Amino acid sequence: MTAFTITPLTPNFGALVGEIDLSNTLTAHTMGNLERALLQWKVLFFRDQDIDIEDQKRLGSWFGELEVHPTAKRDSANAEVLRIEEDGEHRAHNNLWHSDVSFELEPPLGSILRAREVPPVGGDTLFADMEAAYAGLGDDIKERIDGANAVHGWPPAWIDIAMRQRGVTDREEFRRQFPDPEHPVVRRHPRTGNKCLYVNTAFTRRIVGLEQSESDELLAFLYRQAAIPEYQCRFRWQPNSIAFWDNRCTQHYAVADFHPQRRVVERITICGDRPI
Ligand code: SIN
Repeated sequence: MTAFTITPLTPNFGALVGEIDLSNTLTAHTMGNLERALLQWKVLFFRDQDIDIEDQKRLGSWFGELEVHPTAKRDSANAEVLRIEEDGEHRAHNNLWHSDVSFELEPPLGSILRAREVPPVGGDTLFADMEAAYAGLGDDIKERIDGANAVHGWPPAWIDIAMRQRGVTDREEFRRQFPDPEHPVVRRHPRTGNKCLYVNTAFTRRIVGLEQSESDELLAFLYRQAAIPEYQCRFRWQPNSIAFWDNRCTQHYAVADFHPQRRVVERITICGDRPI
């Protein structure tokens, strides 16, 4: 018996979860069902959840330890909460599809994003199903990328912030401790065993063993998979909406079309494991 309802946003990807109150401590049974729903739909959406930070953290903690984002202030009261306050002005020029923090050796399992303030219209988030994106590739491309690795790079602007946060003063020492990792281009989901495409425009730098130009060409082709509407769903936010995505097999893109309106969202992120 499932204690909540599921309304798909598309036939196979993204579902709205209803008849659930995330301010309650949910039973292990309900949480198990929620986890199964996440594995099936890859991104879950909730409406009208007037929860507080502790509720949001409790929900995430059921799935694993919470991560402090590399740019968050580690000593703040809620270091695990990444608050994103924007008016959509700057991001429109350099907005990118991404999977969160894939430049870490062990990128997150998932993120839970709650809307605090949203524009009357605009500021939607698009999600891409990277398992479907992989499945949609031709056999020739699959043969080229199965078994390949790609380097994911720390955004240069985040290194100084992360050094302060992690108490490392020497840049070379930081790079030794937190090198740009190599991840498989095609990763297997640790729970379902399904294969998905694991490269993204924001953080992937090059495919190991290829000339930069050949790598750039192949990556540009692979990145375009995330932009195919058949692999996507799109969520329109309301205050107190929540999106919970499986970061291992999805990418997302927050549409920055709402300038000069304000959009404020708060994210908590669940630690994951090393992609294989
Ligand atoms: C994010 O990239 O984690 C934020 C997505 C959003 O603001 O919709």
